[in-house]
Amino acid sequence: MKFFIDTANLAEIKEAHSLGILDGVTTNPSLIAKEGISNREAFEKHIKTICEIIEAPVNAEVVSTSADEMIAEGKKLAAIDPHVVVKIPMITEGLKAVKQLSEEGIRTNVTLVFSPLQALMAAKAGASYISPFVGRLDDIAHDGMAIVEQIIDIFSNYLFETEVIVASVRNPLHVLLAAKFGADIATIPFKVIDQLAKHPLTDIGLTNFLKDWQKVEK
Ligand code: E4P
Repeated sequence: MKFFIDTANLAEIKEAHSLGILDGVTTNPSLIAKEGISNREAFEKHIKTICEIIEAPVNAEVVSTSADEMIAEGKKLAAIDPHVVVKIPMITEGLKAVKQLSEEGIRTNVTLVFSPLQALMAAKAGASYISPFVGRLDDIAHDGMAIVEQIIDIFSNYLFETEVIVASVRNPLHVLLAAKFGADIATIPFKVIDQLAKHPLTDIGLTNFLKDWQKVEK
């Protein structure tokens, strides 16, 4: 399973990249705003910087809602760097934009997916990736990972090439289940990436090894 980091923070991206586990980045308008980016030019420059750091897929989201505007915006985003993947919201106008952009060879990630049928629609329209938001489903007492399992089943029934990105990840269990169900990618916040490598028995074991070594090297 590939790991993307779900952030626009350069320090977090660099740190995760240095661990050797990073396969891509996802951003969204909220994550961009969180970095204090306050105009379009700065946004595009920021996306270019991320592309140069990781040289892997970097997802940048459109903010228009009509197909024609999303297509124009998507082309502009894709022109920033060959690593850019254009995030398109899962609305009917978005499907039209995905069809057109994919026909022109521009990779798209259909975002804000909350049901298997939305995922099926996006895959049929030609999306390169779809992003089911598991944490936001869990937040309203729906089982987010159950939706992911259904999407993976459907895609394997029909051999869709669209990759499934488990998004809105809140905890290590989401990542574990994503891997168990065979998701292509999990996009993970830095805090959760940090949790994945940790285990209290590792810390206790290391403390004891280092303490015992002091008896050897006095
Ligand atoms: C990723 O593509 C999504 O934008 C992101 O995972 C949403 O996560 P959130 O529900 O924590 O905002």
